[in-house]
Amino acid sequence: MKAVILYDSKTQGGSTEALIDSIGLKLAEAGFYVEKAKCKATANYRFVREFDLVILGAPVYYFLVSSQLLGSLIHGNLKKNLKRKKIALFLTCGSPESMAAVLYLPQLKIHLISNKILAEKIFAPDDLRKSEVHQEFVDDLLNEYNRKGRSKVRSGAVWSEEANEFIQGLPGFLQGKFLTMAEEYAESMGYREITLEVLEEARDALGGT
Ligand SMILES: Cc1cc2nc3c(=O)[nH]c(=O)nc-3n(C[C@H](O)[C@H](O)[C@H](O)COP(=O)(O)O)c2cc1C
Repeated sequence: MKAVILYDSKTQGGSTEALIDSIGLKLAEAGFYVEKAKCKATANYRFVREFDLVILGAPVYYFLVSSQLLGSLIHGNLKKNLKRKKIALFLTCGSPESMAAVLYLPQLKIHLISNKILAEKIFAPDDLRKSEVHQEFVDDLLNEYNRKGRSKVRSGAVWSEEANEFIQGLPGFLQGKFLTMAEEYAESMGYREITLEVLEEARDALGGT
């Protein structure tokens, strides 16, 4: 299992870097091979495809999530390379969690609507100092990571009536290919039901028309 922590911060050796080292250590203790990489909007993010889990996080400065992480999602090729990835998000900031959840987290989530977000956490200044809060985030993330893995093996996704009708309406020679693609996508995302929405999402994520 390979995880990468993509982070940004304007402070070398600051609170965000200390946090990711702590999160990385806890993931390694849980059996992950962990790498960290500092975001640069112009970077080529093709390398994230090699990882099973991608954790994205950054501080907030002047009401905006730090610019190199946001820039990588908006202008760079990070979003494209995160397709079908299991991800987790965190922010470090000085605001209370309730405020940051409304003002700051959506700045990231709006670019990640086709991803399954396993866990998300806002680390306020007090949380940054508490190893047990870091551990809670890692535990939540791993519970979701493992839960989805188990459900994939136990049961294949069920087709909704509408999605099934859609498939039946396709030319016969396309049905098998489309069915496999949709089921693989649903499995990778941990979906238990394949609905029309899931089919649309799969089409967008896999670059179909
Ligand atoms: C210049 C500056 C601007 C900041 N602006 C905000 C802000 O708008 N909202 C907020 O909640 N926190 C703000 N903070 C708090 C930081 O997000 C918080 O201290 C974070 O942990 C800093 O991470 P770092 O040590 O990696 O730089 C700001 C901090 C600094 C230094």
